[in-house]
Amino acid sequence: MTTSATTPLTQDELKTLVGQAALQYVTPGTIVGVGTGSTVNKFIDALASMKAQIKGAVSSSEASTQRLKALGIEVFDANTVAELGVYIDGADEIDGQGHMVKGGGAALTREKIVAAQSKQFVCIVDDSKLVDALGKFPLPVEVIPMAAQRISAQFAAMGGQATLRLKDGQPLVTDNGQHILDVRGLHITDPLAFESQVNQWPGVVTVGVFAFQKATVCLMGTPGGVKTFKY
Ligand code: 5RP
Repeated sequence: MTTSATTPLTQDELKTLVGQAALQYVTPGTIVGVGTGSTVNKFIDALASMKAQIKGAVSSSEASTQRLKALGIEVFDANTVAELGVYIDGADEIDGQGHMVKGGGAALTREKIVAAQSKQFVCIVDDSKLVDALGKFPLPVEVIPMAAQRISAQFAAMGGQATLRLKDGQPLVTDNGQHILDVRGLHITDPLAFESQVNQWPGVVTVGVFAFQKATVCLMGTPGGVKTFKY
């Protein structure tokens, strides 16, 4: 008797699958909004096969801009583009309504800007990112450096522990010249209210909850293939 075992797809293979699946949301002749991260890198690599059919991209980070340009895809300044049809990006967490936590790659501010100028947000993730409620992943918050301590105290008052993100032993500096706090211990049951509240705090540049700019579609890589969720 023989037995056959199917090797489960690795997380990297799931990212490749959803990166390629996102091409179906790219309309020829348009400019595409492009996010940041390892999953989006798979999308950018796949997008290279369509580069002759699109005008180019608006990018959410210096890292994605470099990758797009290296593949021969033109990158436009967001200010020169009135509206984008679609923005394609990954997430650190996504719930059943399309609310997300983002910013693991420190690009959350530009990601939120490009998402806000796009009609559709297509989120590409592997199934490890699906959560019942946001907050398991440390919440990234981009802050003006002089406000970091005060904002950390405000998170402590709601039960969160904020730590300054470091790179090579120094505070990480974002593409916008600011710092990132990662906040653990939050359980975000009302993402819209939470995003509104934290947005009011002086010195907060961007909170990594994407509830106002939530996903409209999620392409999720699972052992059974790519599942599509619409919100
Ligand atoms: C970057 C992000 C990314 O979308 C998020 O961190 C997911 O990244 P990855 O695809 O590498 O898991 O928000 O700021």
